[in-house]
Amino acid sequence: EPLTSRNRINSLSSDIDHEKVVGVLSQLVYDDAAIRKFIETFEEQIRFANSTDEKLRKQTDLFWENTFVRRLFDGTESGTYLGIDLGGTNFRIVRVDMTNGFTFSFPSTQMSLRKSIITTWTKRIKCSDGPGLDSVILLEEAIERLGSLPVSIEVVGRISDTTGTLLAGNLLDHKCLAGLIIGTGSNAAYVEYTKNIEKWDACYKDDDPSEIVCINTEFGCLGDNGCLNFLRNDFVREVDEHSVHPGSFTFERNFSGLYLGELVRVALIRLANEGLLFKGQSLDKLSQRWAFSTKHVTDIESNPTTDDILLVREVAELTSTRGAFIIATAMVVLLNHINQPEVTIAVDGSLYEHHPNYHNNMMAILSKWRPQTKTTLKLVKDGSGQGGALVAAIAQKSKAT
Ligand code: GLC
Repeated sequence: EPLTSRNRINSLSSDIDHEKVVGVLSQLVYDDAAIRKFIETFEEQIRFANSTDEKLRKQTDLFWENTFVRRLFDGTESGTYLGIDLGGTNFRIVRVDMTNGFTFSFPSTQMSLRKSIITTWTKRIKCSDGPGLDSVILLEEAIERLGSLPVSIEVVGRISDTTGTLLAGNLLDHKCLAGLIIGTGSNAAYVEYTKNIEKWDACYKDDDPSEIVCINTEFGCLGDNGCLNFLRNDFVREVDEHSVHPGSFTFERNFSGLYLGELVRVALIRLANEGLLFKGQSLDKLSQRWAFSTKHVTDIESNPTTDDILLVREVAELTSTRGAFIIATAMVVLLNHINQPEVTIAVDGSLYEHHPNYHNNMMAILSKWRPQTKTTLKLVKDGSGQGGALVAAIAQKSKAT
């Protein structure tokens, strides 16, 4: 829908220059041409990430990590398992009783289920220790430092929160073949046939064409090489420049919970500076970087509007809708790979959970751009924590068979 036909903009009073408003906000429009270009770009980056050719692999920032999770649930798992979940917002410990392990939501190079080298910190964490070290060993050492415990704890593996969410979803619904996080950060994991991953040919492919593996896409950093520059706008650029890790995690910067409030704040300041908003009012508070949170965006869109907040609400809605559309387009690409008639995507994360329109906005894109698959988006609360425990159950099962 073109901005000029949006009711909210048309109901602004006549002392506001409507054309000027449309001029500023047009940067927030993510149209069919951008969707098409995004699908092509993401597809090409996946091809690079999967290639055996080192030169091609260097042309992408996508990790496309092997999670070493190579089976899903068949209902015969049993035992008591612990999940430890370290992410951007929460640190949780989950116990799952099924009639040893953990979730660590930072980019890592996974060498096996138990060996996972931290690549870099993201989100709000910045410290020199960590990169290059094995998070499983660090956890084991920390457990050892606690001295004697009433139970013995064996660390079975490390997974990403996305893989955890996928597993938690799959336990409830066997059609669940993807896990998606839309919280502080954003990332997805999905189930792929091992035969389709060219770069793993040499390392562990056997002849079984039905062999599967969960892939942790780490798509948050898509675009760090510039391939998503066509998506960037002034607001994203400004938020990036003033973030903890500028120039990295480009894709995530467009919509995830850590940035959504700040993206809206920057757009509001721009409108105010152009004399279109908050005329004659102090901008001191709003001018503080990061002063406006994602919760404000969610609240604004959840409440009835008055004339005063018409424009604020418009900016919030355009920014979050753009985000929901972008992330849904990324899932269209993964659904093309999964290529099944019916797929459930397990979703965890505070933004998806609390935002009033996120789900419907995503569904609109999924049904238009991937009509061949009947897709269900299912909220799996604390899937990332449970997943840490569930992967232990799967690992145990793999050992046994
Ligand atoms: C960030 C992290 C990634 C995690 C995602 C969702 O993108 O780098 O590892 O999965 O946030 O929490």
